Amino acid sequence: MTERQITTKIHFCAVEELSDTEKMLLNAAKEAAVTAYAPYSHFQVGAALLLDNGEVVKGSNQENAAYPSGLCAERVAMFYANATWPNATITHLVVAARNGKAFINIPIAPCGACRQSLLEAERRQGAPIRVLLYGTNETVCIESVKTLLPLSFDESFLKE
Ligand code: THU
Repeated sequence: MTERQITTKIHFCAVEELSDTEKMLLNAAKEAAVTAYAPYSHFQVGAALLLDNGEVVKGSNQENAAYPSGLCAERVAMFYANATWPNATITHLVVAARNGKAFINIPIAPCGACRQSLLEAERRQGAPIRVLLYGTNETVCIESVKTLLPLSFDESFLKE
């Protein structure tokens, strides 16, 4: 048996340390959270993307009585962006979540399906997406979706 180490570099930032663009995107993600349709979980998630054409795309989680039919905020935003501007590059993703009346204090952690979908978007566009996961205590800042999904599956496995 061999042991290998996979190293992950994550920065934890205070909001004051974010750039003006990132602060603007954080506000957009917080605004988006309020638009969530989350009557079952009452967990409201907002995502904001910045595209290289300057567009800011917002998304929020959309639930359904048939639970698996709902969709997370990240994929609502990303699929809209890719469907509307298929040739644009996503440069940033900011995610913020409210539990009850307040934004959560620890950084929101995207689900596995969102990580997988975001990874493919990043791979497809050939450029990293900077991801900020907001919490009121601190915000996780990472340089690429790859950081969120080590040992990931992608289309290269499907080639003979
Ligand atoms: N959710 C998101 O929209 N994004 C995340 O990063 C985590 C979870 C949603 C899915 C569901 O509507 C609710 O939060 C509770 O899981």
